[in-house]
Amino acid sequence: MTVCEYRAGLEGIPATQSSISFVDGQRGILEYRGIPIEKLAEYSNFIETAYLLIWGELPKKDELELFEHEITHHRRLKYRIRDMMKCFPEGGHPMDALQACAAALGLFYSRRALDDPTYIRAAVVRLLAKIPTMVAAFQLMRKGNDPVQPRDDLGYSANFLYMLTEEEPDPLAAHIFDVCLTLHAEHTINASTFSAMVTASTLTDPYAVVASAVGTLAGPLHGGANEEVIFMLEEIGSVENVRPYIEHCIEKKQKIMGFGHRVYKVKDPRATILQDLAQQLFVKYGEDKFYEIAVEMEQVVHELLGHKGIYPNVDFYSGLVYRKLGIPTDLFTPVFAISRTAGWLAHWKEQLNENRIFRPTQIYTGTHAAAYIPIQDR
Ligand code: SDX
Repeated sequence: MTVCEYRAGLEGIPATQSSISFVDGQRGILEYRGIPIEKLAEYSNFIETAYLLIWGELPKKDELELFEHEITHHRRLKYRIRDMMKCFPEGGHPMDALQACAAALGLFYSRRALDDPTYIRAAVVRLLAKIPTMVAAFQLMRKGNDPVQPRDDLGYSANFLYMLTEEEPDPLAAHIFDVCLTLHAEHTINASTFSAMVTASTLTDPYAVVASAVGTLAGPLHGGANEEVIFMLEEIGSVENVRPYIEHCIEKKQKIMGFGHRVYKVKDPRATILQDLAQQLFVKYGEDKFYEIAVEMEQVVHELLGHKGIYPNVDFYSGLVYRKLGIPTDLFTPVFAISRTAGWLAHWKEQLNENRIFRPTQIYTGTHAAAYIPIQDR
């Protein structure tokens, strides 16, 4: 039964009903549970935002304290996970390492009780708590060092930067990183969230749900674009090269990384906030030579592709923030995954509330009743 016309990439086709987030791509509006992203970036923090997304409302003081406490006390990794990571090739991409580690959690917590709120809560806490530790541990281990243990006296974001750099970050760096996590936490039915929902709809375990989403986020058309943006800025190298580079991309029909979006036809509101965060970091820690190139790119793309609604997306300025925070380029997408785990879990939970397995149809374009040709006759 074909109920509507085929649209490549399912453009404009609703895949679910959801109350988690809202995007107005013409007006550049993003809300989590009805709260504008700008308000959350200014007044909330990542853990509170994760609570809001997953449990549906802002936590009361004691609820937030309990959630923070639980997450803080589940940050450590089992030594078997660390031993498994020691066998990973140091040249492997951290997103592949993260996907393997997320899936491996399912080996340790294999009791699947999707109708038990205690099980749901424990899975949410474990995944939010352990994913940053996995990312930081892989970074240290690939350099030949032992991973550092999480510090219970540090907040979620400060602890991640500490585990990554082995130095306690200053409060501005920790705060700005935390805002980045808040901004990336959720974005309606993007590719990785859709992947999470499809996996969730089979009633498999939440570690498989997050592992499949991590794999989907990694691609350069999705979360992997933040890393590609830095390679592109490196390749462009100077403000003078921006226009010829963009003209070349347009002529060759190549995608300009960090620009364009299926839903936004104006500048992504998260890009506006991230640009502001980058500027705050430049004031304290000094300029980044790539920033001038990035600003020129935004202007030239607006001039040449603005009529098509091609503007900076979330991945365009995030890398400039992460660079100033000392985060290696190939960890930008894992950092996106740390944050988006909140959104994936919110959709996992929502999917379970009224689950039906995803099983779309297709328009068959092949032949019928074809002859089987014996191998010697082909
Ligand atoms: C994220 O979905 C989400 O919400 C994702 C995300 C989230 O929070 O989860 O917001 C995170 O994934 C951000 C996007 C990161 N990706 C990139 O920066 C890669 C570069 N961008 C593009 O490849 C592209 O814009 C996509 C993948 C983001 C969207 O792809 P669509 O909707 O399938 O659009 P398209 O490729 O069909 O392009 C439509 C038109 C084309 O022109 P025409 O052939 O119609 O003339 O717009 C042009 C494209 O050529 N176009 C671009 C462009 N993006 C679209 N032209 C040049 N550079 C670009 N980046």
